[in-house]
Amino acid sequence: MNKTEIRVYENMASLASAAADTFAEIISCKAASGQSINIALSGGKTPAAIHESIVMRYPDLPWSNVRIFMGDERIVPYSDKDSNYGMAIRTLIDHVDIPSGNLFPMPTSGGSDDDLARDYASTLEHTVPKNADGIPSFDLVLLGLGEDGHTASLFPGKPSVEEQQRLCISTTPGTLPPPINRLSFTFPVINAARNVVFVASGEAKANVLATILKSGVASVSHPASLVLPKDGNLIWMLDKAAASKLD
Ligand code: 6PG
Repeated sequence: MNKTEIRVYENMASLASAAADTFAEIISCKAASGQSINIALSGGKTPAAIHESIVMRYPDLPWSNVRIFMGDERIVPYSDKDSNYGMAIRTLIDHVDIPSGNLFPMPTSGGSDDDLARDYASTLEHTVPKNADGIPSFDLVLLGLGEDGHTASLFPGKPSVEEQQRLCISTTPGTLPPPINRLSFTFPVINAARNVVFVASGEAKANVLATILKSGVASVSHPASLVLPKDGNLIWMLDKAAASKLD
């Protein structure tokens, strides 16, 4: 792993601006090479403010080079209020000039949950350049953190947390809402990324962050603690409330 950084910001607004800056920096750096930039967005509520900050601060990024994937998804229509891709459309995709051919949402209909997971794994296999281990390697994977220590849709106690072969899996929900079956990247994909950025905001995340970042827990009981990019950078971007129990 190249390096782990913990960055703390005054509040959600400054956290969102800083995350937008990091997003833009990673894109601009790779765009200079003329290659496609492969990014996996996170679900949940936190990313909305980040997406809005990206749109406001960086409308002119080289979007034609950017390819958008989802790190996890609730298996509902994109029009559903709980859809992660639906949130990305409303807060980012509809507001930037990104070609439709650059959009790779997780499928949420047309087969069993496991069929959908296999379908998306095939998309990753055939679309994202692989690292030396033959695993699709994203330029950036954005992640959120659940109070129970989950990330993406890798929930404590679920077999998906220990999946080391498949790139994408389906899973029943964890203990936190919404109670909807999910699709999710697995750790092999997350840990093959060149940059992984966690964004966590609010007092509710303080205890789990202390468990992961202070006590150094690295276990399936707190799946987010198993995000350890093999050759990539890991950046935790927190607001003061979320970081309030860290030294
Ligand atoms: C999901 C997310 C999930 C999320 C965390 C934090 O589909 O729910 O991908 O991993 O990032 O639960 O969610 P909030 O940002 O809403 O706190």
